[in-house]
Amino acid sequence: MKLDELRKLFLKYFESQGHRVVSSSSLVPRHDPTLLFTNAGMVQFKDYFLGVKESEFKTAASVQLCMRAGGKHNDLENVGETGRHLTLFEMLGNFSFGDYFKEKAIHYAWDFVIKALKLPKENLRISVHKKDKETYDIWHKKIGIDKKHIVRHGDEQNFWQMADTGPCGYCTEIYYDWGLKSKGSCGKQTCSVGGCPEDCDRYTEIWNLVFMQYDRSQDGKLLPLPKPSVDTGMGLERIAAVLQGVSSIYDIDLFKSLISKIEQVVGCFYGRGRDNDISIRVIADHIRSISFLIAEGVLPSNEGRGYVLRRIIRRAVRHGKKLGCSRPFLYKLVGPLSELMAKPYPQLKEQKPFIEKVIHAEEERFLETLERGLQLLSAEILKLQKAQKKMIPGETVYKLYDTFGFPLDLIVVIAHEKKLSLDQKGFEKYMEKQRARARAEWKGSGEKKLNPIYQKLAQKIKSGFLGYETTTTKARLEAIIEDGQVVKRLTFAKGTENVELIFDQTPFYGEGGGQVGDTGIIKIGGVEIKIKDTQKPFPDLIVHIVESIKGCPPQGNARLIEEKKTAELSVDVRRRRDIMLNHTATHMLHHALQALLGEHVRQAGSLVAPDRLRFDFTHFSPLTSREIKNIEDFMNERIRLNDPVTATVMSYKEAREVGAIALFGEKYGQTVRVLQIGDYSTELCGGTHLTGTGEIRLFKIISETALGAGVRRLEAL
Ligand code: SER
Repeated sequence: MKLDELRKLFLKYFESQGHRVVSSSSLVPRHDPTLLFTNAGMVQFKDYFLGVKESEFKTAASVQLCMRAGGKHNDLENVGETGRHLTLFEMLGNFSFGDYFKEKAIHYAWDFVIKALKLPKENLRISVHKKDKETYDIWHKKIGIDKKHIVRHGDEQNFWQMADTGPCGYCTEIYYDWGLKSKGSCGKQTCSVGGCPEDCDRYTEIWNLVFMQYDRSQDGKLLPLPKPSVDTGMGLERIAAVLQGVSSIYDIDLFKSLISKIEQVVGCFYGRGRDNDISIRVIADHIRSISFLIAEGVLPSNEGRGYVLRRIIRRAVRHGKKLGCSRPFLYKLVGPLSELMAKPYPQLKEQKPFIEKVIHAEEERFLETLERGLQLLSAEILKLQKAQKKMIPGETVYKLYDTFGFPLDLIVVIAHEKKLSLDQKGFEKYMEKQRARARAEWKGSGEKKLNPIYQKLAQKIKSGFLGYETTTTKARLEAIIEDGQVVKRLTFAKGTENVELIFDQTPFYGEGGGQVGDTGIIKIGGVEIKIKDTQKPFPDLIVHIVESIKGCPPQGNARLIEEKKTAELSVDVRRRRDIMLNHTATHMLHHALQALLGEHVRQAGSLVAPDRLRFDFTHFSPLTSREIKNIEDFMNERIRLNDPVTATVMSYKEAREVGAIALFGEKYGQTVRVLQIGDYSTELCGGTHLTGTGEIRLFKIISETALGAGVRRLEAL
């Protein structure tokens, strides 16, 4: 069965069992600071599991693009070595948010693999957590699995969690046994389900059913989730391998075709030696993850997600070099890949020229870096030879490896030729430091850490946003946070520092989509509170950050403000208006850049503040003064025309039809807000805007700089 058929079969099965079919969310969970990439199907449902958001449906099924190249789940180093690991894969999953639990989840999974996929029962094996007797009994007593085909493991194997914090629970897995004597098997009796000492390919884990029961807090504690839920995940490529009778995922239909293209591009054949095959597998896997990440707006850089992307590109280039490619070659694979995956993922084809450009630029840059590294190494060798030393210092080896991306084995070969050795110990010391840094980096996306209190509050409070229609309102004070803790009231004696307020509704805009948070004044009783910023840690939780409180009772423990009291909220209108001018101008600028520089221009980030706007976008050369002038003229022309600006709430499907740009394939709710300017700009946007472009009056670019390879930054007034 081919991949396309499998996706359909899975979704159809669960749809017929009453599940809502939900599309894949972005590979980049932009609003989740705990996660580098979407690493499982459950990520887009995380808020439902945690109970901070109500879902419109209680059960769902999806085919989710996942990436495991950083963070808690990282398969990067295994890719190529085994026949089962990929950095980018598709995950078939069914989910229950407080609806069914263990028994029904197991029943569905078994029914699907036996009846729909027709897998032979005798080849299937089960793993369960050793403390999860209930699950063991369901498999053994209700489904009738032989005891010898059920293995029990501890937390390492059968406890699943998305990241260091967040929803988690016991899990049970279904494996396919290819047999002791099969091609990928180590052939040893010590090999067991989920525990081969040689990490061989005899058993393929095909499905993981997680019983989400806990929320792991930042201090490591397991707190019960509001409703026990189910999260399952079956690797599409793995199950396809089983159904196509091949123990390596690199032998399934998609990879076979991709590998034959790689063979043509690199001029080497698959199946002609282990090292050769590892390199081809690495390239086959990496070109997919690289292309999808770039399609979603991630660009090579030295930090966070961009750094992971850079490492993957470099790894692929190094393997290409091993196969004899000393010129850029990876970018040539984007075309064939986008053809092969065009049906489910048209974005690859739509963005092919852009993806090619980014990869090509990065390949060239890396090859130059390698060249410079080679010069550094030669100089170092000369120095050592002159000093009659025989060992290349660990620091130099590390520098070559880390800064110049040199593969270690290449350094070894060169050193060997010159009859030198490497300071392995010194190198390891530097590596350990780097790993510690990487671990810290990969803990999350590098965004701000959230106070766990917000999560609890989001489970109870929904702050309605009224700021599109009004800038003042009366509202009820739902929560007071002081020094990170919820308090019922604020007293004068305790002071007024580090205070945050949450209301049932508010006209204050919480920072998001590049637009900064509002400031303003809140009055409660005789007390006047100045708000210096507004944040939105969860979609329906708007937090007002206090700057100062005036009109305090003169002394003692008198109550300043108290929960449940009514307040009057007023946004600083002047400042908000300035922000709106800049926000509408940002959308216009996006359009102007595409119209004047080309379709490859894409937004890579923005800041919309009262005093200026900043716009980062993909473009491969600095702007000339003529281009800058043209952009300004283009903008001012449209400002003079006073084009209407309108916002309409519509379904996601309608928004696609009217051509609203969903930046980076981000996940939106069932309904979205579409912002239309004149007849030229249509974008999904939750920000606040003008009603006509004429209000901007004048647009002026004040700086143009490089932000990285292929990314420019404009600042404008
Ligand atoms: N979240 C679980 C996993 O990734 C099940 O989907 O294995």
